[in-house]
Amino acid sequence: MSSETATHTHIVKTEVLAMHFERAGEGSSKIKKSLQLIGIGPELLRRIAIISYEAEMNLVIHSLGGEISCEFYPDQVKIIAKDHGPGIANVEQAMLEGFSTATDDIREMGFGAGIGLPNIKRCADYLEVESTLGIGTTLVATVYL
Ligand SMILES: Nc1ncnc2c1ncn2[C@@H]1O[C@H](COP(=O)(O)OP(=O)(O)O)[C@@H](O)[C@H]1O
Ligand SMILES: [Mg+2]
Repeated sequence: MSSETATHTHIVKTEVLAMHFERAGEGSSKIKKSLQLIGIGPELLRRIAIISYEAEMNLVIHSLGGEISCEFYPDQVKIIAKDHGPGIANVEQAMLEGFSTATDDIREMGFGAGIGLPNIKRCADYLEVESTLGIGTTLVATVYL
């Protein structure tokens, strides 16, 4: 879950299971706790919490499962959400405000407004979304400290 490399990069990683709503949010709350422990201020904390929560929920709702991790560097934090598919057909379209492929069942649970990715983009200093159909999606959001 937590590891330390030779370069003192701290990584907090959590497995995310598809459609497991009872465990949804575990990964992002772990990330938030680590950030609080190292004394990240409230405004940065808020942005990183939004990024990690939205990215984690996208894995729960739209993916076949994956993992969410946070990498800590002296000057920046990277939130990385990596899944095992199904991938995003059109990433540009997925980034549009209001675009969602969520089913009615998911919408009834209060998700699927189509603002997750746009919010991540707004909160991140730099965002990369790389996706291959049938393979999976990797989202990397960078926030400078
Ligand atoms: N990890 C993912 N795997 C597959 N599709 C995804 C993933 N993340 C996002 N998407 C696609 O991008 C769309 C927009 O995502 P988002 O802005 O978070 O809105 P929402 O989650 O409310 O649908 C989703 O409806 C889905 O089609
Ligand atoms: Mg979403």
